[in-house]
Amino acid sequence: MPPPETAPRDRLIVALDLPGVEPAEAMVARLGDSVTFYKIGYQLGFAGGLPLVRKLADQGKKVFIDLKLHDIGNTVARGVESIARLGATFLTVHAYPQTMKAAVEGRAGSDLKILAVTVLTSYDDGDLDAAGYRLGVSDLVEARARQAQVLGIDGLVCSPEEAASLRKLVGRQMSLVTPGVRPAGSVSCDQKRIMTPARAITAGADYLVVGRPILEALDPKATAEAIVAEIVPALAG
Ligand code: C5P
Repeated sequence: MPPPETAPRDRLIVALDLPGVEPAEAMVARLGDSVTFYKIGYQLGFAGGLPLVRKLADQGKKVFIDLKLHDIGNTVARGVESIARLGATFLTVHAYPQTMKAAVEGRAGSDLKILAVTVLTSYDDGDLDAAGYRLGVSDLVEARARQAQVLGIDGLVCSPEEAASLRKLVGRQMSLVTPGVRPAGSVSCDQKRIMTPARAITAGADYLVVGRPILEALDPKATAEAIVAEIVPALAG
């Protein structure tokens, strides 16, 4: 759960899904003060983007490293120790008990918060069955959310549609971070289960991850400001 005084602007996380450091830095410059929190995932991270974490942190920005780690416990713990030194605020891991336990151990003594991905939103019951799971999506999400909470994980990544039920399940302690957010009137791209910023916040999300609607906008800064303006009344109401 973010501190209650977390400003609406600090709840918007812009996914820097760009092919390299140069376009990413150009986007950060364009967005200026309108954005305080960035997400670095596979595309930018594996294109030389990890040093940007420290650079952005030194500029007073927060960074979410979205690498969805999963490996044997020792490897996860040592990897998370290294990541914790980069100065990021959030890191994702897959919600397997060994992995979550190791991540919590690896970040000990740092400010890094660990977010668990319960079940990837691209998976349906049939995909889980094909992967050898006995549970369907909703039961597995619930089981993993409970395990995450017991293991000291700080938050969950979930679709806006899952936010209300997960909020009921885990209470106010854990942060809920939702991608799949589209400002009112924008195109959905390939996101299927989408919500507007206001509805996602009302459903219980603490942080909203938005990529293409901002990155591909004619005026990214104005789009970011419009999203923040949608968050303000939703938080108040
Ligand atoms: O461009 P868009 O707003 O769809 O970007 C959403 C971001 O959130 C991407 O970086 C994507 O990888 C991430 N994400 C997602 N759905 C999930 C988990 C993460 O879209 N279930």
